[in-house]
Amino acid sequence: MSAAAIAVRGIGKHFGELKVLDDVGFEVGEGETVALLGTSGCGKSTLLNIVAGLAVPDAGELWLHGERAAARGERRSLAYMFQEDRLLPWRTVQANAELALEAAQPRLSAHGRRERAAAALEMVGLAAFAGHHPHQLSGGMRSRVALARSLIGEPGILLMDEPFSKLDPQTRAQMHGEVLRLRALRPTTILFVTHDVEEAIVLADRVIVLAPRPGRVREIVNVSLPRPRSATETDVAEAVRRLRLLV
Ligand SMILES: Nc1ncnc2c1ncn2[C@@H]1O[C@H](COP(=O)(O)OP(=O)(O)OP(=O)(O)O)[C@@H](O)[C@H]1O
Ligand SMILES: [Mg+2]
Repeated sequence: MSAAAIAVRGIGKHFGELKVLDDVGFEVGEGETVALLGTSGCGKSTLLNIVAGLAVPDAGELWLHGERAAARGERRSLAYMFQEDRLLPWRTVQANAELALEAAQPRLSAHGRRERAAAALEMVGLAAFAGHHPHQLSGGMRSRVALARSLIGEPGILLMDEPFSKLDPQTRAQMHGEVLRLRALRPTTILFVTHDVEEAIVLADRVIVLAPRPGRVREIVNVSLPRPRSATETDVAEAVRRLRLLV
């Protein structure tokens, strides 16, 4: 069996007296999409920050593609889509998309950057808005820019922290379609955080349910329903209902 894309082993984390994570362990296979589901404050963002190398655990190990990862530091081929879109207001959509490449591939020429950014914006249906500034976009369009920016460096691993929680249900469903379409175009390992049981069932191959205070794995649920999944289908609604009982 090949090594998991992400292996979290015995991770623990305190902030002062507060024990936030306790002996958290799970794996995400190459190309798999996994949801981290849990109540507010149970340590989901902290866990994602540890995987991204932005926070240092007090205990445990993190392995990426079969290699032990340093507790802190840059992760090659990993993109992190934060809960806020973090677009720079003074940069156009195109220049915001290019920003990720400036960091990830500093040797790429300006022309190369432009082309890659244009292709990424095309992929999320925003080619016509490349010259706009963030304040001229709707919330859904801003999310699309953030998604394009996350994918532009062709990451092997994509982390997303409640990326669509501020969108209305219809736009959120569109973004789910977008993620699934992009995942089919280019196999990517996705680990995402959500409060939303329906989002977990619609997107994920597996759902890791976290228990709070301190955060730990309560249950791991396989979702083997055929795709695309719509919340209006009976099987999907039933899976949502059963998962809700575990959270
Ligand atoms: N840098 C920090 N310093 C001190 N405490 C922190 C820090 N980051 C998080 N915490 C605390 O750790 C706990 C878990 O926070 P975290 O942001 O990981 O939760 P979460 O599951 O992502 O919550 P939410 O769903 O509301 O985003 C919270 O009680 C929070 O106050
Ligand atoms: Mg959070």
